[in-house]
Amino acid sequence: MADLIVGLQWGDEGKGKIVDLVAKNYDIVIRSQGGHNAGHTVVLDGKKYALHLLPSGVLNPNAINVIGNGVVVYPKQLIKEISEFDRDIKEKLLISDKAHMILDHHIAIDKAREKLRGKNAIGTTGRGIGPAYADKIARVGVRMGELGNIEKLMDKLAHYYEMNREYFEYLGVKVPDMDFLRDELEYYKNELMENITNTTQYLWDNIDKNMLLEGAQATLLDIDHGTYPFVTSSNTIASGALTGSGLSPKELKKVIGIAKAYTTRVGNGPFPTEDLGEDGDKIRKQGHEFGTTTGRPRRCGWFDVVAAKYAITLNGCDEVAIMKLDVLDGFDKVKVCVGYEINSEEIDYFPSELDDVKPVYIEMDGWNGSEGVTEFDKLPLNAKKYIEFLEEKIGCHIKYVSTGPDRNSTIIR
Ligand code: IMP
Repeated sequence: MADLIVGLQWGDEGKGKIVDLVAKNYDIVIRSQGGHNAGHTVVLDGKKYALHLLPSGVLNPNAINVIGNGVVVYPKQLIKEISEFDRDIKEKLLISDKAHMILDHHIAIDKAREKLRGKNAIGTTGRGIGPAYADKIARVGVRMGELGNIEKLMDKLAHYYEMNREYFEYLGVKVPDMDFLRDELEYYKNELMENITNTTQYLWDNIDKNMLLEGAQATLLDIDHGTYPFVTSSNTIASGALTGSGLSPKELKKVIGIAKAYTTRVGNGPFPTEDLGEDGDKIRKQGHEFGTTTGRPRRCGWFDVVAAKYAITLNGCDEVAIMKLDVLDGFDKVKVCVGYEINSEEIDYFPSELDDVKPVYIEMDGWNGSEGVTEFDKLPLNAKKYIEFLEEKIGCHIKYVSTGPDRNSTIIR
């Protein structure tokens, strides 16, 4: 049986901290979608690691880490991440033979297309995620298992480059030197082949173990249900975690949704509760809201109940974690979006297009001194009222409240 941790907003909710908190309870930790566009920093034995592709189970020396079939793997990044650990984490790492590979040309295409889009750019992380998934769907992608036969893979890639020659030229993307490419693929094979396996079968064979599916990106970036086209190219929601691992819906035990006490977004696209004034700046500063993967300043704004309810329903959340409550310390008033106005009409659901949506806010009294609090009853009264209000509005139990970056700065209710 598996539990799932999933982001309820536009990413960077602090999933890593909750995974870190609960990871010791799991035998197997699984990444099921996305690639090295994800990122979180973890501290282990006093050393800092930036994890982009490796599941967070690497923090637990006993856990098996699985990179599932739904992930797009940039082997160069994976090899680099593995090498940063002092201990041999490869012993406990399995990579799906069905996971698609990101090659350098995917990254070059991602960047070239963003440039051509100009002011309509999506604001991607430039990691080749979209082009790799596009090849997968077009059935011309290459999978990790294909590293087993480099000659065959080289033939396939030569044909691929030939078919795409004009497109590459149009984008100004170079076709790689084939000898160089062969050397690179050989290197990936030498480094990773012993870890590449049928992970779906492995998970089925170990179905009685405790498994954690670790979501990447978040619900509102989902390719189907997010704010298209300003989304990532995978299904980030609970059902995507199942497709991306091969587990059946019946194996999903508990879904934990993660949201910040406010909202942030990196990249372009609609964001109804964005605050472009002093409050947004203050949230960015107090919350250190700059991307782990790209360093970009994050757009900041208020908690959006409509979006959270939508995300909770899409994922079937059993419980919710509210992160970074302490970042709202020191505000006289805090706002919560409880509805949307669209063409002068108020709605309480998340529409398919957010372009003309205006947030309907209620204002609550602010607080000071929530930082580092570990018991709900010890929170400042207005902070407690804030959490209780959110809980009532989103209709899901808020089990965790995070009051600081430290693992211990967490309230469990
Ligand atoms: P891509 O996933 O690089 O194609 O980027 C598509 C959109 O998803 C952009 O707006 C990115 O900023 C956003 N995105 C991708 N990964 C993350 C993440 O891990 N956290 C937050 N936003 C992300």
